[in-house]
Amino acid sequence: MNSRDLEEKSGHSEVRDKVSEPIILKVENLVVAFDTEEGRIRAADNVGFEVKKGKTLGIVGESGCGKSVTSLAIMRLLPKPAGVIESGKILFDGTDIASLDAGEMYRIRGNRISMIFQEPMTALNPVHRIGKQIGEVFQLHYPAMSQAEVREKTMELLRKVGIPDPEKRFGEYPHQISGGMRQRVMIAISLACKPDILIADEPTTALDVTIQAQILELMKQLQEEIGMTIIFITHDMGVIAEMCDDVAVMYAGKIIETAGVTELFQNPRHPYTKGLLSSIPRLETPRKARLNVIKGMVPSLYDLPEGCRFQNRCPSAQDICRTEPEMTSVGENHFASCYFSGQ
Ligand SMILES: Nc1ncnc2c1ncn2[C@@H]1O[C@H](COP(=O)(O)OP(=O)(O)OP(=O)(O)O)[C@@H](O)[C@H]1O
Ligand SMILES: [Mg+2]
Repeated sequence: MNSRDLEEKSGHSEVRDKVSEPIILKVENLVVAFDTEEGRIRAADNVGFEVKKGKTLGIVGESGCGKSVTSLAIMRLLPKPAGVIESGKILFDGTDIASLDAGEMYRIRGNRISMIFQEPMTALNPVHRIGKQIGEVFQLHYPAMSQAEVREKTMELLRKVGIPDPEKRFGEYPHQISGGMRQRVMIAISLACKPDILIADEPTTALDVTIQAQILELMKQLQEEIGMTIIFITHDMGVIAEMCDDVAVMYAGKIIETAGVTELFQNPRHPYTKGLLSSIPRLETPRKARLNVIKGMVPSLYDLPEGCRFQNRCPSAQDICRTEPEMTSVGENHFASCYFSGQ
């Protein structure tokens, strides 16, 4: 995809990249660790990024690089007891979420920050009817709301996310509806309280192309209506082009490059980002195919190389790459951690 295609597709331009918006979420030096039988690993290692209010930040990277772990840390939903926030800050509107107690987080989660999970079937409760699962969100955050009002609001949401025949769907169970409809139900649940931030973790990976396009369109529409901020997680650079204003590229637990979307596509600096961009699925490749153009494997978190984590796959690697490169400014609003990012 060339940059003109990208601009046409996403409505972005360099001018838009440069508009500065207030920062609603700032992640600083976040370290998420897991205690496993083979020892402690850092699934997110010194992760930092900023999210502009009302905009969409994409987090992109291959499977296992720490995208879901980072979003679960923001939601404070890391699997317990193995997963912990070891250090760092998650500043939401000035409050550090990483150090909130469970009660305070309870008020934020689902209300001010909500998440669409990677696998809707595991996130929905199979034994509860769809209407009840949406209604529960209202009951949780607005206990004074009457039953009639909860039902009315639930219906309104089902209509809003494009679920046909909401009266009928209200009383159905998750297994009775299609994958696309389940994802719409998940979106309805996550939007119930008009959150400030929506984290969408690969919300369309399991869906076929047409349904995927519809869901992405729906998310954009709802974002405009509510004015919410989105963190969009994907391994698909094509989806990044379509959905995002800014991008953070992750590799083996680290953010290795951040930039506005147009800048990143026009002027990628990290060899890993360049690799991802050259592997954008073309029309003739099946959409669900995983990125596999970059040769070699992501290193195991149990056996990381000294220095740059991409060195074993990198066409530009030199001796210096055995010491860790810092994130440095390589352009306006553009940072990369590579000794050769200037080239
Ligand atoms: N419950 C867990 N216990 C131990 N390690 C875990 C656990 N969950 C995740 N990890 C570690 O964290 C790493 C990052 O996982 P994560 O789910 O964030 O990847 P991802 O980028 O979301 O990948 P995908 O694109 O496949 O969803 C994994 O490779 C794994 O090593
Ligand atoms: Mg994931």
